[in-house]
Amino acid sequence: MKSNQPIGIFDSGIGGLTVARAVKKVLPGESIVYFGDTAHLPYGDKSTAAIQAYSVRIAEMLLKQKCKVILIACNSASSAAYDLVTEYVGKKAKVFDVINPTVDFIRENYQDEKVGLIGTKQTVSAGVYARKIEQLKQNIQFTSLATPLLVPMIEEGIYDDEISRNIIGKYLNDPLLEEIKSLILGCTHYPIIKEEIREYYTQQNKEIEIIDSAETVALALKSFLEYHQLVNKESAGSDQFLVSDFTESFEHTTKTFFGKEVHLEQIPIWDELG
Ligand code: DGL
Repeated sequence: MKSNQPIGIFDSGIGGLTVARAVKKVLPGESIVYFGDTAHLPYGDKSTAAIQAYSVRIAEMLLKQKCKVILIACNSASSAAYDLVTEYVGKKAKVFDVINPTVDFIRENYQDEKVGLIGTKQTVSAGVYARKIEQLKQNIQFTSLATPLLVPMIEEGIYDDEISRNIIGKYLNDPLLEEIKSLILGCTHYPIIKEEIREYYTQQNKEIEIIDSAETVALALKSFLEYHQLVNKESAGSDQFLVSDFTESFEHTTKTFFGKEVHLEQIPIWDELG
């Protein structure tokens, strides 16, 4: 691994740009190769086996792009495929997911508390967060709720309005999330509605910490690069934003997740399989 190699980030689609944005914020000198598997989204409703097959293939492509790090930005793919991708990549690159840094953060900050998580059906039913938090053998209670309406809601541009407030309120009012002290945003899309979630709890007079897994993984990546002297000291090359299926609507949505619209380039990653 060399410091001037890019950072590979992948997701089921465009939502993972929240993670890319968080990475660029703390590591502005790095260049990134982002890949959104728009041909297969959403991953949140896919089987574990399907997500594993996609993820390994994507990792192979990012290795060909000479990435020093492969960051699985998607919570659903982190749940389904982190171990497999890590094994596949071996020593050729460092693999990050969004779950392990978040679990580390909880271990350091939230002992003796009840922690909640919201995410896709895949993330919740795979139970990876639950298992990893249990393995800490600390007095942390964990509860999770699948909130599948939130991804399409945000992608349709429905946020910061009455409809989104109602849907968010309905989910957060679920008895499963009662008495939590912190809430993990376990999905690429949820940083977009972080302030609405905060407002909901403020209105309920509840002090709940919101844990943004995009920010958590970005900071973990920064520490890793610094510790291993892998921070890019040369001038950063240009970022690449790749997708497996291009539409103008995807390109337009990049603004929501990345803060500015970026050009998407379609690559024939799945054609080669045929
Ligand atoms: N990227 C997914 C995640 O973080 C959400 C979108 C999808 O279901 O593909 O779980």
